[in-house]
Amino acid sequence: MASKLCLAVAVLFLSVAAFHLQVSAIDSKLKLGSRILKESIVDVVNGNPSAGWKAEMSPRFSNYTVAQFKYLLGVKQTPKKELLGVPVMRHPKSKALPMEFDARIAWPQCATLHRILVQGHCGSCWAFGAVEALSDRFCINFGMNISLSANDLLACCGFRCGDGCDGGYPIDAWKYFVQNGVVTEECDPYFDDIGCSHPGCEPVYPTPKCSRKCVDKNQLWKEDKHFGVNAYRVDSSDVSNIMTEVSQNGPVEVAFTVYEDFAYYKSGVYKHITGGVMGGHAVKLIGWGTSEDGEDYWLLANQWNRSWGENGYFKIRKGTNECGIEEDVVAGLPSTKNLVNYIVSSSSSDAADNGDVAAA
Ligand SMILES: *[C@@H]1O[C@H](CO)[C@@H](O)[C@H](O)[C@H]1NC(C)=O
Ligand SMILES: *[C@@H]1O[C@H](CO)[C@@H](O)[C@H](O)[C@H]1NC(C)=O
Ligand SMILES: *[C@@H]1O[C@H](CO)[C@@H](O)[C@H](O)[C@H]1NC(C)=O
Repeated sequence: MASKLCLAVAVLFLSVAAFHLQVSAIDSKLKLGSRILKESIVDVVNGNPSAGWKAEMSPRFSNYTVAQFKYLLGVKQTPKKELLGVPVMRHPKSKALPMEFDARIAWPQCATLHRILVQGHCGSCWAFGAVEALSDRFCINFGMNISLSANDLLACCGFRCGDGCDGGYPIDAWKYFVQNGVVTEECDPYFDDIGCSHPGCEPVYPTPKCSRKCVDKNQLWKEDKHFGVNAYRVDSSDVSNIMTEVSQNGPVEVAFTVYEDFAYYKSGVYKHITGGVMGGHAVKLIGWGTSEDGEDYWLLANQWNRSWGENGYFKIRKGTNECGIEEDVVAGLPSTKNLVNYIVSSSSSDAADNGDVAAA
């Protein structure tokens, strides 16, 4: 019991250290077994005229304990040596970036851009952000509607990607796409559609086993693999570089620090107002804009179903590295490797001519 607690404390400490933030005093007062949602936080946010966003007792988390909520925040600190060899994407200073950008409007033919997924009770956000952005990029680059499998990544990447439902490393998800490829959702659907109501779910949510077989016996695992060309970090010393990347190559995966008040987000441009650090979370960034109050924001898709936030989406303050949102931006380009029905129309067979990827 004591060692489990120590482990939990160590994991919390690591995820906090990753985001260069302090654990606030409030956090240590939160009991892991108590309910995450409290009216007092709604009152603090909604009573603050300069908050910029509205809070609610989110129906998504009405039955969640503090421990269950923290468990969803599955971004682990990427070991320094893992990042050393990772290339960095830098775009030439762009001519004119639009004031507002929404990938759903830019690429209306891409069905995956309109999906909001559900990670269930597993700390698999690192896998979701990655497969969602890569699925969009297959459509943007090759005009194909495919939904790639978070389950393949979660179950089959193993320790290279971290620890499955106990959290993982976003950049290693993108490396897995290059090295192993990823199958579609039809081949390997997500294991957790029923949530934490079955035996064996607590206290540690089990990571699904890697089967390397499609559920439909007529579909072959190897033939269904979709590959990435490369895996890179997006240079964020200037936010316009992130904007160019998204408007040119499609959505990216970002990791950020979640504070307690984020669970209550309903609408508007989020910035941290109250509550302690809960953990690191990964999501898909799809655009940006400026609110009626003149606040610049990023537009993102979460994977907490549509009953959370603005129909599953949220906005967060842009340009100030709010909660570290501009620090850990990763992506990769889709490859034509293994695509049977794809007709190569240009001289280059990969979507690799979309910026300068330089060694770190
Ligand atoms: C919350 O849990 C209670 C009992 O444990 C149950 O009756 C209720 O339906 C649950 N609510 C939701 C939204 O899941
Ligand atoms: C993707 O699917 C949507 C909805 O089924 C469809 O409207 C769209 O044309 C498809 N896009 C491509 C590129 O095939
Ligand atoms: C997501 O929400 C919809 C309704 O908004 C519900 O029907 C569905 O069961 C939810 N999915 C999961 C996996 O919770």
